[in-house]
Amino acid sequence: MTELPTHPGDIDPEIFRKHGYQMVDWIADFLGGGVRDLPVLAQVEPGEVKAKLPQSMPEKPEDLELVWQDFLSTVLPGVTHWNHPGFLAYFGITGSGPGILGELLSAALNVNGMLWRTSPAATELELVVLDWLRRGLELPDDFFGHLTDTASVSTLLAIAAAREAADLDIRERGMAGRSDLPALRVYTSDQAHSSIAKACLTLGLGLDGVRTIRHDEDFRMDVEALRAAIAEDRANGHKPIAVAATVGTTSTTSVDPVAEIADICASEDLWLHVDAAYAGSAALLPERRDALAGCERADSFVFNPHKWLFTPIDASALYTRRPEVFRRAFSLVPEYLTTPHTGSVVDLMDYGVQLGRRFRALKLWWVMRAFGLEGIRDRLRFHIALAAEFAEWIDQHPLFERLAPVPFSVVCFRAMPADLHDPEEIDNFNMELMEHVNASGSIYFSHTKLNEKVALRIAIGNLKTTADDIASCRELLEKGLSCLSTR
Ligand SMILES: Cc1ncc(COP(=O)(O)O)c(C=O)c1O
Repeated sequence: MTELPTHPGDIDPEIFRKHGYQMVDWIADFLGGGVRDLPVLAQVEPGEVKAKLPQSMPEKPEDLELVWQDFLSTVLPGVTHWNHPGFLAYFGITGSGPGILGELLSAALNVNGMLWRTSPAATELELVVLDWLRRGLELPDDFFGHLTDTASVSTLLAIAAAREAADLDIRERGMAGRSDLPALRVYTSDQAHSSIAKACLTLGLGLDGVRTIRHDEDFRMDVEALRAAIAEDRANGHKPIAVAATVGTTSTTSVDPVAEIADICASEDLWLHVDAAYAGSAALLPERRDALAGCERADSFVFNPHKWLFTPIDASALYTRRPEVFRRAFSLVPEYLTTPHTGSVVDLMDYGVQLGRRFRALKLWWVMRAFGLEGIRDRLRFHIALAAEFAEWIDQHPLFERLAPVPFSVVCFRAMPADLHDPEEIDNFNMELMEHVNASGSIYFSHTKLNEKVALRIAIGNLKTTADDIASCRELLEKGLSCLSTR
């Protein structure tokens, strides 16, 4: 018999307990207010964190206390705090207390939910929480939902399903070197997220395969332009396969006319994908259910609990009315993954590219149960009210102008100093104003471009953001305005 070395194993459970308690205490203080004392935007130069870290991993085991101290002194200063109440950039998000607890458990269990059998609860809880969400959004009963990491991946899977639904035998024969295959086309608005185009370039449609449709005066897809583009492509021998509409575009949160787009998809036999990554949450409010009008006719629909549903990143909910098409596109079962249940249960590996799947549903379940639908609604309403109040302030201010409607919790605006008239100078001034406010350490917001103009963008979505934070943002903007104007 071979003599075995001593069993090395994991760290001592008592050491885990000690550091676990220390860490949970720190997290509780961090969430309870400590994060507010840290600069929201990391105040480090490129390479600064890396320069403080050794080039190789330690040869010998290190005391976890040392690792903890290095986290505090080296890593933490290089963190931009998305969980800060002053984080108003991109889309405001929250790693909420209950979500963090769910995430901790999911790491502890460390299950891989690739098959029903490899952890039945991971699959069944995922299907149940996605059904709870579906009911909350009043989407149809036959929408099948599963979780992916991000909206980008959800959209990639959806466009792959659309390609499969077009019956071009791409699953078997691929796309390269096929003279029988026309150029495929996916339509989306010029306000859509870049993830639509990324899906197309990944799937071999190329960027030429994405037709961007112009927006109307409210940044919504222009449906007449969509109709004309489809007709033109058909006339040129191309093959339209899908339209990707957006509910809550990235820049202005505009909502495409999904019902009209669904009519076009029905008459043209095109797959309708809806990207509601951020704004889907709003439809949990009975008074904002209108946001999803027409989405019940979508073939696929994505919405991110890790955006505006207080769930730690990552968690993206992908729904489809046509789960069999996703299976047709993706299911491939080698012998070692067959089980006595194959074919009679849902094996979530069949619905996408990845095999290994985290137990993401736990954190979402924790969030839904800790806040309840009522608590979630109160929080969404609060954010919408804060945004409305901020928009009102912009509208009344003589030196700011609002650049887009405010359907949810994002406000796009710009400063218009009286002495500036040149468009480039106005853009530069606004970029400087943004950097001036962001240098404060208490507020961090980002920008976009709307109709070629730089637009500043305040996105409210963090659970800790209060009316005082938005008031301090207004104050910093005022101060920045007078400071930069009197140079
Ligand atoms: C409308 C929209 N869709 C998709 C995405 C991509 O989301 P993810 O980071 O989950 O891929 C974003 C990101 O902000 C977005 O705004």
